[in-house]
Amino acid sequence: MPRRYTGLLMRTDPLAYLGTELDALREQKLFRHLRILEDEQKAHTTVDHRSVVNLSSNNYLGLTTHPRLRQKALEAIEKYGVGTGSVRTIAGTMDIHMELERRLADFKKVEKVVVFQSGFAANAGTVSAVLTKEDVVISDELNHASIIDGCRLSRATIKVFPHKDVDAARKIIKGLPAGQRKLLITDGVFSMDGDLGPLPGLCDLAEETGCIMMVDDAHASGVFGRNGRGTIDHFDVHGRVDIQVGTLSKAMGALGGYVAGSGDLIDFLYHRARPFLFSTSHPPSVVLACMAALDVLLEEPEIIERLWDNTRFFKEGLHRLGFNTGLSESPITPVIVGDGAKAMQLSDKLFERGVFAQGIAFPTVARDKARVRTIVTATHTREDLQFALDAFAVVGREIGLI
Ligand SMILES: Cc1ncc(COP(=O)(O)O)c(C=O)c1O
Repeated sequence: MPRRYTGLLMRTDPLAYLGTELDALREQKLFRHLRILEDEQKAHTTVDHRSVVNLSSNNYLGLTTHPRLRQKALEAIEKYGVGTGSVRTIAGTMDIHMELERRLADFKKVEKVVVFQSGFAANAGTVSAVLTKEDVVISDELNHASIIDGCRLSRATIKVFPHKDVDAARKIIKGLPAGQRKLLITDGVFSMDGDLGPLPGLCDLAEETGCIMMVDDAHASGVFGRNGRGTIDHFDVHGRVDIQVGTLSKAMGALGGYVAGSGDLIDFLYHRARPFLFSTSHPPSVVLACMAALDVLLEEPEIIERLWDNTRFFKEGLHRLGFNTGLSESPITPVIVGDGAKAMQLSDKLFERGVFAQGIAFPTVARDKARVRTIVTATHTREDLQFALDAFAVVGREIGLI
């Protein structure tokens, strides 16, 4: 067992087992070095000294570098400085935090919104706040890790239903005591497959059985619905989802998450959601950038149209080449490979040809469902996308995928 120098004594390294686990990853060809972005987060960028077409970011609308967001962030730094120096409940709530929450509530057509430091914090903080160990969560098997962690933190019983299977969820719920509090929860857009949660069916089920209905709309925020209002708007289930989570970190171009719902829900989260209570609030530059992102969604909706045009073009191209792209309905298109090492090989070979599309393997997806995940954005040009499709064609043939 390796030994570590710790001052006067040589002692056996109690973390040595981590090295063993890492060696196993290396053996399975699943050990990954972080890819380093040496330029802005945009459609065409530089990663690890290579100029690439970027198919790996969640920057759906190109807002990370939008002039209106940059400008507002700079103004915020001038006016308020770079940090807030406190959690929201002590001294870290500025007028601009409240304004952002009011604007998001208007946008989402709900009574109130609370902003968290990230979408992860919003999910984990909310589920763990609203449930106790006496309660039960009924959760889609492909829900995001932040939902799963929130469920675990709540200590509620977790019942998992097969992906998008409303009837299976119904069976689970019918088997539970009538008086028990239940939370039915789904992603709006599933982040690794790009398909949509069956919101109308789940809302019916929640109403029929008295469940709290919660939707994590992280990948739908800015992408689905009118002006990017999300899947609740896309499916027109306004008023039927008790807890909506959105993110400000993906299409909105900046950082953060939020929960939209009733006044009581939000006031309760102000008092009980642990990331809200125990972690410093958003820096002013991020808050103003998020408000500028809302302005862009409302005043430049053509940017969302461009995203969807590009999505259709790219998806059709992959289909025509014969790749297995699963059941995606969104700008997230997985190229499903199966074996983890092979997915990484596809990703690496694409990268050598100037296309950055990350390989995703276990534990992010099931062991036999490894893939390269692609996301197109509004700011890709047709040339960028055709270049990427050409690279997929060459590498896909080379490694026997098509
Ligand atoms: C479905 C889903 N929910 C929540 C999150 C977390 O959002 P954020 O990146 O803002 O923490 C993600 C991000 O990966 C996601 O894919």
